[in-house]
Amino acid sequence: MQIEFADRRPDGDHALVIPVAGDDQRSIKDFGEGLGEALKRQRFDGEAGSVAEYFAAAGSGARRILVVGIGSSGLTGEAAEKLGGTVAGRLLTSGETHAVIDLADHGGDADAACRVALAAALRSWRYDRYRTTLKDKQKPTLDKVTVVGGGESAAERWRNRWQPVYDGAAFTRELVTEPANVIYPETFVERCRPLADLGLELEVLDGAAMKKLGMGALLGVAQGSVRDPRLLILRWNGGADGEPPVALLGKGVTFDTGGISIKPAQGMEAMKWDMGGAGAVAGAMLALAKRKAKANVVGICGLVENMPSGTAQRPGDVVTTMSGQTVEVINTDAEGRLVLADVLTYAQRNYKPKTVVDLATLTGAILVGLGHEFGGLFANDESLAAELLEASKASGDKLWRMPLAESFDRLIDSPIADMKNVGPREGGAITAAQFIQRFVDKGVRWAHLDIAGMVWADKAGTTYDKGATSFGVRLLDQFVEATAER
Ligand code: BES
Ligand code: MN
Ligand code: ZN
Repeated sequence: MQIEFADRRPDGDHALVIPVAGDDQRSIKDFGEGLGEALKRQRFDGEAGSVAEYFAAAGSGARRILVVGIGSSGLTGEAAEKLGGTVAGRLLTSGETHAVIDLADHGGDADAACRVALAAALRSWRYDRYRTTLKDKQKPTLDKVTVVGGGESAAERWRNRWQPVYDGAAFTRELVTEPANVIYPETFVERCRPLADLGLELEVLDGAAMKKLGMGALLGVAQGSVRDPRLLILRWNGGADGEPPVALLGKGVTFDTGGISIKPAQGMEAMKWDMGGAGAVAGAMLALAKRKAKANVVGICGLVENMPSGTAQRPGDVVTTMSGQTVEVINTDAEGRLVLADVLTYAQRNYKPKTVVDLATLTGAILVGLGHEFGGLFANDESLAAELLEASKASGDKLWRMPLAESFDRLIDSPIADMKNVGPREGGAITAAQFIQRFVDKGVRWAHLDIAGMVWADKAGTTYDKGATSFGVRLLDQFVEATAER
């Protein structure tokens, strides 16, 4: 999708998009009575996301005019996003190739224009690599969006600040969408190698290297698979020399069968995206590098495949984590926390971060609590929780804070080891977070984002089609900008 900014509506063939703020119809006054009548007959009320269509004579043919409501509060971030996403969703396979969105009557500034563009670009993303028999009618036609009225700086702002975020999100979506026979620990790393060209430092540990470090929890999960695990470290040093990095950690289970505690067949294919946390971390690192963020950030992905086999770990096995703490593996399907435990220890030992944020499709329980509307936020520090909630509001990646407490922590004590990897069914997302917290060093600000309900969508949203949402990329990008950049 080509994104363009202009100060006037261009000539030539295109679909024209006119935003209308609630019942204030000033922006359509030049189009005559026909359009007014058309809006009435479609019960158009200007509410955010509402759409009416009209074909007006233009040259020797007709031009599609899309009137899109932005609500009565004007072009807020949310309204801008809804506008761009709605337009792209409506026009993507409509036959139109070029959409012109005119913000001139809404005092659109560069950031609002970029937000419209970002939503349009994100909503248009799709992955047709494996679709060899698409009918012409199903193929996307829209390949260019021009946003008018964002002022002179909009194009530059897009290039330097927002296009990188789009690129990061697109990268995440690709990783998440690819099936598990294509993306597994080794190939996840291979897809990330080109990120070195952006100035990111890549380091990769294989199973043998992790064994030397004593990462018994991560390796216990990996041992049932013929795919060797990987630890992928992506470093971006855009901040002051010697300033400890913010650490972003991702659960990267490239397929989660459950292991010996095997999952039911129904819906198991969804577990190809059990690497959505790692995918978000990789995409966010790409965005930060492309926009040359002035911060030190390290992204670490724990990449494993969780398989049942003759070599798989058994329920009841006791593993020793890199921290030295031991874990009784009651359920091999509670594998994400085992992976993150060792990733967390590795991150703290090697990078001495003051702030750590982990992202993981960790529990079905978080879906029971928060559905597909919010990711679960757990934090051991009030200021970090506030910063993440703020970034959540600004970015549109929604989070809701969940509790941590000593009384939950007791539920994962084990009679044979330091802890067990599951608690009771009740409070399952919380005991999972408590488990990870046992690996957080003193003085480290830590947050855990359980994004199991957010990585994949069964129906299209404002900024994504059915499928991978890239949840977390915009959140992390925003969080780093607001808290770590100099
Ligand atoms: N990857 C799953 C969690 C998940 C479920 C992600 C649904 C996305 C959608 C995780 O590894 C898992 O299996 N969790 C178990 C934990 C249980 C055994 C304590 C769960 O939630 O059922
Ligand atoms: Mn599992
Ligand atoms: Zn899992």
